[in-house]
Amino acid sequence: MQYKDNSIFSIKRVSVKDIVMMKQKLEKISVLTAYDYSTASICDRAGVDVLLVGDSAGMVMLGYPTTNQINMEEMLIFCTGVSRGVKRAMIIADMPFGSYQISTTEAIANAIKFVKAGCHAVKIEGGIEIIDTVKAIVKTGIPVMGHIGLKPQTTILWEGYRLQGKTKISGLKLIEDAKALEEAGVFSIVLEMVTSEVADIICKNISIPTIGIGSGSSCDGQVLVLHDMLGIYEDIKPKFVKRYAEISKSIFEAVSVYISDVKSSKFPNEENIFHTSPADLEQIRKTLKEKK
Ligand code: KIV
Repeated sequence: MQYKDNSIFSIKRVSVKDIVMMKQKLEKISVLTAYDYSTASICDRAGVDVLLVGDSAGMVMLGYPTTNQINMEEMLIFCTGVSRGVKRAMIIADMPFGSYQISTTEAIANAIKFVKAGCHAVKIEGGIEIIDTVKAIVKTGIPVMGHIGLKPQTTILWEGYRLQGKTKISGLKLIEDAKALEEAGVFSIVLEMVTSEVADIICKNISIPTIGIGSGSSCDGQVLVLHDMLGIYEDIKPKFVKRYAEISKSIFEAVSVYISDVKSSKFPNEENIFHTSPADLEQIRKTLKEKK
């Protein structure tokens, strides 16, 4: 559902219930990351169902080498910007590394900070090992999205970026994790870089929606990092990303023309400048002369 900013109709916010119902109705769920007011507002007006303020912000917005360096304070700034720009999409905050592992009390306190910053749910990476944390946050009344498969916060510490679910042990573990998360009360689960076969089994064995990233088309929805799909972030180009635009090329070209316009005094021109009226100008000149 696209909408115009000046719409006279009140815009209904996408809820957890809507997301869960979309799986029942076989309607695919569109999810994108967002980190700032302006782009979040564009994505929202285009009709995206969910905006995820991902910890990928650490890499694409702040230039950190991995997602592990971003902290709560930085995440909260991005969440506030996104929440100001969005009227319809559900906003999910990614809990950064270190914000939910120390204690469930700290995890709850941090999840509450995201709700106060305008988010409607939080996402946590992990399977069976984070069940108690999930239950505690859900009990507080905050919806939780799970994230299994490649878990950038921890998988890379052990084995780097690797496809998940390739073996019997790995596939069965993912299926168990998904079931445990569903039982613990998550409303949806991100499957990152899981083989399409195992992702398909997971989708068919749980009743909550799965959101895939590099996990095939059986998933109930898809998520991409906005900067990857728009061609803004160029440091890493995962195979699962489809490029929908080449924005970095457009920015490069526009900035090059701007530099040359400034250097050659082509910019600003008559269209971009303001004037003092001839009468006022005359007064200024006269006053200046008198002062000399
Ligand atoms: O941080 C992020 O952007 C994510 C998505 C890739 C799912 O976790």
